[in-house]
Amino acid sequence: MKHHQVLALKYRPSTFDTLIGQEAVVQTLSLALSNDRLSHAYLFSGLRGSGKTSTARIFAKAMVCDKGPTSNPCDLCDHCLGANENRHIDIIEMDAASNRGIDDIRELIESTKYKPNMARFKIFIIDEVHMLTTQAFNALLKTLEEPPPYVKFILATTDPLKLPATILSRAQHFRFKQIKTHDVVSHLCHILHLEGIEYEKDALEMLSRAGNGSLRDTLTLLDQAIIYSKGYITPESVATMLGLLDPKELQKIFTAILNGDKTQMLNIIKTLESYECEIVIDELIAYLKNAFFEQDRRFSTLLYERFFKILSEAKSLLFINANNGFVLSLVFFKMIEATHIKSIEEMIDSLEHEKFRMPPPAQAMVEPSLHVSPISIVQPMDNSVQTRQLFDTLIRKVQDRNAALGECFEKNIRFVSYEQEHLTLSSSAIEEESKLLNTHYSIIKHFIHELFGLDTKIKILKEERAPTLSDAMYEAGLHANDESGSMIESLEFEGSPQSESCATGAMLAKEREIDVKEILNDPFIKRAQELFEPRKIEIHPKV
Ligand SMILES: Nc1ncnc2c1ncn2[C@@H]1O[C@H](COP(=O)(O)OP(=O)(O)OP(=O)(O)O)[C@@H](O)[C@H]1O
Ligand SMILES: [Mg+2]
Ligand SMILES: [Zn+2]
Repeated sequence: MKHHQVLALKYRPSTFDTLIGQEAVVQTLSLALSNDRLSHAYLFSGLRGSGKTSTARIFAKAMVCDKGPTSNPCDLCDHCLGANENRHIDIIEMDAASNRGIDDIRELIESTKYKPNMARFKIFIIDEVHMLTTQAFNALLKTLEEPPPYVKFILATTDPLKLPATILSRAQHFRFKQIKTHDVVSHLCHILHLEGIEYEKDALEMLSRAGNGSLRDTLTLLDQAIIYSKGYITPESVATMLGLLDPKELQKIFTAILNGDKTQMLNIIKTLESYECEIVIDELIAYLKNAFFEQDRRFSTLLYERFFKILSEAKSLLFINANNGFVLSLVFFKMIEATHIKSIEEMIDSLEHEKFRMPPPAQAMVEPSLHVSPISIVQPMDNSVQTRQLFDTLIRKVQDRNAALGECFEKNIRFVSYEQEHLTLSSSAIEEESKLLNTHYSIIKHFIHELFGLDTKIKILKEERAPTLSDAMYEAGLHANDESGSMIESLEFEGSPQSESCATGAMLAKEREIDVKEILNDPFIKRAQELFEPRKIEIHPKV
């Protein structure tokens, strides 16, 4: 029966050419070999399964090869063959994880005193060197600094920070990188080809992502996937095997987000309960990254940025042990919200557009005869008999005070509504009559306060005749110390050429009424409100 070997061992690289993703390391070591500039101690550090031990072995072989030292060992001589089979008598491997004590190191130091048996060098590969005890390190220091000329050390570790500075300063340090997904995937393709196993490339991407840049981890997962998928490796089978989301599910999630489909989202959140939240978030990030590189048009750059930010914030929430379901719901709903948010530029554009847009066509006030009926802005109306009677009393009071004013008031001013201390009237006064009302505005205001209460705010709608002003609406917030009451402005505004600033004020008031609500509803502003907790300040036009 054929002996089965795991892929990671079966495909351990034995030449610099077959080593993947460590070009910088390979280049420097090759140069040192071909220029005969070998140091006596090397330190290889980096992620597990990224090729440190493999490189150490290739490097050792390159030093002992008959043709060497050479960056291209012949693979034919006894030294090369011995090295390849891991049985070269002068290449001594020691695992510091299991031989970490002072005695082990003493033994090693002792053997450095004897010349190599057959090769030109005696090479010590010490793996997981950070595991040595402090005494062992100290014992090693002197030999490491000044070994006999035929001795070479290659130390390897995943954790160089745990090494004493004294060791670090005595060895040339090479840092091994995480291997890029792209490189890992093509390596897997190559291996599966040799093994005669069918696959879908997406599945390999998922495996290499799960391997996190460690080729050994990825190969171990590949072993597992081959068995699990029964010879045909698909994204679905890999997803189930790794406890990842099915790629179709991810597709569904983003469609729901982009459509703002909250009901669908809630269903999805339920189905995600059986998954590890962190895995879901990682998958979402990976999906987005992929979409970004493939220039998926469904997402704008701004949206990518926001989504990534939301996802990374979610990760820190997980870090503080927030409830998984909660974090996921938060992520999805924040993402839905983020799709509505406009960019600053869009906001400015729309504000400018609002500012310069033409007044909307007149609605309620076109026909003076309609003045009491549907004024959509003032709802709900309270036209109870009582308040109407109060208004009649108001007319009488004004008449009593000043007959001409009373007559003018009765003729031009109509009651519209009284609700929550807001009295809304409409006025059809123009020119002389308008002036008369303006001049005596304080009297009118006084009576209104007397009858309707001191806190009553007065709003006067303009009944229009001329179409150009047909939609003008005047708002007057009345304050105890504000004697320049805005009713005057309103009425002055009517056809009066010198009152340009009033006109602007009135225009602004109108715009504010119409647009502010819209703008305040914008999610961007809402978010700003959440952040800055602003107070609402009403500004009333004043001349
Ligand atoms: N850069 C690489 N190129 C090709 N194969 C690699 C590479 N890195 C790792 N591998 C694969 O992973 C296996 C383990 O690699 P190696 O023992 O060299 O890793 P390591 O960095 O020493 O890991 P550890 O820190 O866990 O000891 C190899 O047998 C090989 O199959
Ligand atoms: Mg190793
Ligand atoms: Zn050789």
